[in-house]
Amino acid sequence: MSLHSEYFDGVYAEGDDPFGLSTSWYEDRKYSITMASLPQRRYRRALEPGCSIGVLTQRLAERCDSLVSTDVVDPPLRLARTRVESEDVRFVKWSLTENWNVVDPDAAAFDLVVLSEVGYYLDERDLRRSMDTAAAHLEPGGTLLAVHWRHPVADYPLTGDQVHGVIADTDGLSRLGGYVDEDLILEVFTASNERPQSIAQSEGLA
Ligand SMILES: C[S@@+](CC[C@H](N)C(=O)[O-])C[C@H]1O[C@@H](n2cnc3c(N)ncnc32)[C@H](O)[C@@H]1O
Repeated sequence: MSLHSEYFDGVYAEGDDPFGLSTSWYEDRKYSITMASLPQRRYRRALEPGCSIGVLTQRLAERCDSLVSTDVVDPPLRLARTRVESEDVRFVKWSLTENWNVVDPDAAAFDLVVLSEVGYYLDERDLRRSMDTAAAHLEPGGTLLAVHWRHPVADYPLTGDQVHGVIADTDGLSRLGGYVDEDLILEVFTASNERPQSIAQSEGLA
């Protein structure tokens, strides 16, 4: 079963930053890999489900004209709003499993969706459904970047590798590239059923 907001109420009762997102070198390095892996220099309209206290949000905001960042509970959203004071970033209480029209009323309006450490809170059925919906809410050629911890966590319905297996199976997404080590898996997908052009090809270099 997917983990619901009650579970995260308990997690954030332990402290403001229970995942150490603002203090750990592991996270800082991972955010740098994430930002370096985005295939476009800039994005027009991005979605970041599971933003927590907004540490990655701050970095994404520098590359996106507008950004919708969501979480399922209020305490981290309150801190994220304080951390990221930008008119271009909208924070919304919303779960990946809810209706996407709430965050994307115009449909297919996103050119970037970032799933950073959030997919493994869903069970396989919910994740498959929400990845199908994510593909439908990306404009053609848009980017979906996913990055997840690979070590099993007892409470989580899926491992990071299982999450990436589900995303790779999603119709309408094609893998552009990625990075993997013992701890993390990061993959970049393009909204297309065709093999995407490499960055060098799209720049006319290859
Ligand atoms: C480990 S933190 C990741 C924060 C951020 N994405 C990062 O990588 O730094 C996961 C966050 O996802 C939120 N979350 C859990 N399930 C979610 C869901 N179904 N939709 C949106 N956010 C969710 C949690 O409340 C938590 O704040």
